[in-house]
Amino acid sequence: MQRKEIVVIDDDESIAWVVKSALEQHGCKVATKGTISRGIKSIKDSTKVVLLDLVLPDGSGLDALTEIREMYPDVTVIIITAHGRMQSTIEAMKRGAYDYLEKPFDIEELILIIDRACRDFDLRREVKSLKKEVFAGEIPQMIGKSPNIVRVFKQIGRVAGKDITVLITGESGTGKELVARAIHFNSDRSDGRFVAVNLASIPANLIEGELFGWVKGAFSEAKKAYQGKIAYADGGTLFLDEIAELDINLQAKLLRFMQDREFAPLGSNDVKKADIRIMGATNRDLKKAVEEGRFRDDLYYRFNVVEIKIPLLRNRHEDILPLARYFLKLAEKKFHTEEKQLTRDAKKFLQHYDWPGNVRELENMIYKAVVLSSGTTIEERDLSSDEIARFTIKDFFEEKIKRYLSEMAKLENGNLYETILCEVEKAIIEIAVDYTHGNQLKATRILGINRNTLHSKIKEYKIKCNSNRKKKK
Ligand SMILES: Nc1ncnc2c1ncn2[C@@H]1O[C@H](COP(=O)(O)OP(=O)(O)OP(=O)(O)O)[C@@H](O)[C@H]1O
Ligand SMILES: [Mg+2]
Repeated sequence: MQRKEIVVIDDDESIAWVVKSALEQHGCKVATKGTISRGIKSIKDSTKVVLLDLVLPDGSGLDALTEIREMYPDVTVIIITAHGRMQSTIEAMKRGAYDYLEKPFDIEELILIIDRACRDFDLRREVKSLKKEVFAGEIPQMIGKSPNIVRVFKQIGRVAGKDITVLITGESGTGKELVARAIHFNSDRSDGRFVAVNLASIPANLIEGELFGWVKGAFSEAKKAYQGKIAYADGGTLFLDEIAELDINLQAKLLRFMQDREFAPLGSNDVKKADIRIMGATNRDLKKAVEEGRFRDDLYYRFNVVEIKIPLLRNRHEDILPLARYFLKLAEKKFHTEEKQLTRDAKKFLQHYDWPGNVRELENMIYKAVVLSSGTTIEERDLSSDEIARFTIKDFFEEKIKRYLSEMAKLENGNLYETILCEVEKAIIEIAVDYTHGNQLKATRILGINRNTLHSKIKEYKIKCNSNRKKKK
């Protein structure tokens, strides 16, 4: 059986002595201290129970209780209180004391409480270690041995144990959320929750409530109170993804919260505190957003205490095949398929592709190949990406639209939507007509529109259309 280690903090020497000798006879290891400072110093990781008097020469037992609970959350504190101090006893229970004994107390009763407290302590430790084991399977591994990703691993190691804000930057699918998780699970907050909120996926008018929560009746649809993600993450980590997308008004509110970790749910003046570590991520150039006035510089500095930049997958070439093998194994487990190998051509393809969607794209590509391929090999033709078209077209439009936006934003009554759609429509028709050397029938088939529509669009946009048009590359 594990040893019962007890610390008694009481300046009444006779009580301390009686307790010590009774508990030692019961097989406990007991240290007695007459002051808070010496008492707290003698608490160790293996201490199971602290017996604490409420009135001590160097301070109040209540404050000591708070301190002990914060420093050693597993340790059980039992208050030994003088008769007539009921009010402070209640307060002590509120602050997390396990039980209380009124002086003079019965030794048998003391031993019963100590036994129960030690059993609970052992149980708590056991649950904790089981939880760690269970989580160990859940903590996603980070694969990689290229110098670029090893640099990231080292940074994770350096910041994990320090309770500081971290900004994680990198393009889409590089592993920003995974890095945030790795930091959380390697920090002192690993027993707390990891709560991720993607600020780009929530409509702007709902973000404030999602973060800070609301009270019943705060707005017409608020039929029930909602605690919000910040309160939910209390004791753990809040990961704010896509922070560059945050509306400027909300940036001010988030900044206020980050300064003092205090907030009030919507519809309430009741200020609450949350003990959370905040991490942010973005795939945008936040510095540029600050320069352009879209992101508050004070919030930027709050986030950017430490920045971890995750490299593009194509800049960590050595990691592609190990990641592919890792996803193969995961896919086999996930889809209960037989073991599959990549052929030489398939490996070559993976190594030469430029991965616009980074690790996420590789992961999806492998999963798809595992499901679709028959037999025990994955060949080059099994590997295809949905991302290729999506990414290049999105990138293309993004650049153009941004330029339009900056021009049209100056106009009071801009017509951005129409203008861009017309431009795009014109370009698509021109490209199809070029591609088919002016053969309208072929062009309609490629475009998936009928001949009359094509005809009227050609007229509308004054597209030159004869078979002499050269095929553009
Ligand atoms: N080094 C790695 N080892 C193993 N898996 C990885 C690694 N990096 C990323 N992944 C996996 O790739 C996927 C994408 O990662 P993650 O969601 O963290 O990227 P992200 O940068 O947050 O993407 P987005 O910008 O799209 O939100 C996840 O399934 C993640 O588990
Ligand atoms: Mg993400």
